[in-house]
Amino acid sequence: MGVMNEIEFLRSVAERAIRYRVSLTDTPVPPTADPSALRASLGGPTPEQPSDPAEVVRRLADAVEAGGLMAMDSGRFFGFVVGGSVPAALGADWLVSAWDQNTGLFAPTPGTAVIEEVAGRWILDLLGLPPHCSFAFVTGGQMANTTALAAARNHVLASVGWDVETDGLSGAPPVRLVAGDEVHVTIQRSARLLGLGTRGMLHVSVDRNGAMLPSALDEVLARSSREPTIVCCQAGNVNTGAMDPVGALADVAHQHGAWLHVDGAIGLWTAAARPSRLPGLERADSWSTDAHKWLNVPYDCGITICRHPQAHRAAMTVTASYLVQAAPATDRDPVDWNPEFSRRARAVPVYAAIASLGRSGIVDIVERCCAHARRFAEHLARQPNVVVLNEVVLNQVLVRFLVRGGTEADHDARTRAVIAGVQKDGTCWLGGSTWRGLAVMRISVSSHATTTEDVDRSLDAIHRASIGAVPIAN
Ligand SMILES: Cc1ncc(COP(=O)(O)O)c(C=O)c1O
Repeated sequence: MGVMNEIEFLRSVAERAIRYRVSLTDTPVPPTADPSALRASLGGPTPEQPSDPAEVVRRLADAVEAGGLMAMDSGRFFGFVVGGSVPAALGADWLVSAWDQNTGLFAPTPGTAVIEEVAGRWILDLLGLPPHCSFAFVTGGQMANTTALAAARNHVLASVGWDVETDGLSGAPPVRLVAGDEVHVTIQRSARLLGLGTRGMLHVSVDRNGAMLPSALDEVLARSSREPTIVCCQAGNVNTGAMDPVGALADVAHQHGAWLHVDGAIGLWTAAARPSRLPGLERADSWSTDAHKWLNVPYDCGITICRHPQAHRAAMTVTASYLVQAAPATDRDPVDWNPEFSRRARAVPVYAAIASLGRSGIVDIVERCCAHARRFAEHLARQPNVVVLNEVVLNQVLVRFLVRGGTEADHDARTRAVIAGVQKDGTCWLGGSTWRGLAVMRISVSSHATTTEDVDRSLDAIHRASIGAVPIAN
C-alpha cells in the first residue's frame, strides 16, 4: 500500500468509526446478529495470500456492525459495570495505536512513559492517597487485584523472613487470605494465580447491603494464630454497590499485623467525588481500580496502587542485559511495576480523560450516575409488585418483579421474564443477577453519556416488559 493509499485508507476507517459512534444515539442497544451468520461472514479458510487492507477492514466491519456489537457506549447500556468513553480518551486511544509504542521501558519511549508518571500522580491526588504510593497501569481490575496481591504476598512473607520472589511458596509460611462474604470472583482468581489458593480463604460477614463488618473482621483475625495475613475488602459491591468501611477495616487489619487491600474496581472513583463515602481510604495498603469503568476510558485499563513501593517493585521487576533500563532515582520504567513485559501505552487515554474532565468533570460523572441510579430506583419502587432490594448507595440498582400472592420461585420467574423482555425490546440493555438467593434485575449506571431522558426511555421499556412478561422457569 503506497503512502497516499494508506492515508486514504486510515481516513476512511476513522470516518467509519465516527459514523459508528454517532449511530449510538439511536440504534438498538443489544446485538441482533445470528451467531451463525457472523461465523459465515467472518469465517472461511485461513487466508493464504495477501488482500487489500481497505477491503479487509471494510468486510470485517460490515460483518461485525451488522448486529454483532453491543452498543456499550450508548447512554442506555446498563449491563455489568461498563463505562463509556469520553471523547478525549477515545481520541488519545486512537493515537496510542498510531504511535504503537511498547511502553515497558522509559528510554525508548520517554513521551508515553512520562504521561504514565503524570497520570499516576494525578490519580493519587484525585483519590486522596499518599503521594509516595507506587502504581501500575494494567489491563483491568483482575490484573490490578493480582498485581496488588503479589505485592502484598511479597510484603507479608518478607515480614516473617521469607523471600517469596526467590524461594517461591513451597515450604513458605502459610499466608492467610481473608475477604468478605461478598468478595468479587477476581480476588479468588488472583489467589489461584498467585499460588495462595482459595480453599483456606477466611470469610467475613457483611451487612444487609453487602458491606464488610469491622467487628466481624476483628473476630476472624483474632480467632486464628497470627500469621502472614492479607485482607481484601472492596469499594463498590458488584451487585449492590455497597462500600466497605475501609478506614475502620484498615485499623482492624493493622492491629492484627495484616495487609489491607481495597478492590475498588467500581467504587474507588467516588473518593474523588465525595471522600466521605470512603472515610480512611488512605489508610489501606493497596488499592485497585478500573479506568474503563467509571473514568470512562475505552477498554482496557485497570490501575494498581501500593503504599509499599518496595514490595510492589520486588514482586514485578525484571532485568535483562538487552534492556535499556532507567536509573530508578530519575526515571520510571513501567516494567518494574507491571506484570506485563511488552505493553500498550494504556495510561495515555487515562491522562487524556483526566486532563479533559478535570476533577470536577470526574465528580460530575460519578454524581450523575448515582443520581440516575436513584431515579431508576425511585420510579421502579413506585410500581405495584416491584421492589428494589438494595440500598442505592452508588450506581447499582437491584430490582425484583413480584407475582401477587406468588412464591419466591414465581417472583424469580417473573423477574427473569422482565429482564428477557427488556433485552428483546432493545431500547436499553441490562442484565440479571442473584442477590441473597433471589433473582434480580441489575442496573448499573456507569456511562458519562447517560442522560435523564435515557433513564426515562429505559424506565418505559422496563414498564412495557413488565406488563408483557411471561414468567421464565428456572
Ligand atoms: C469489585 C470488582 N472487582 C474486580 C472486577 C474486575 O474488573 P475487570 O473486569 O476490569 O477485570 C470487577 C468487575 O466488575 C468488580 O466489580
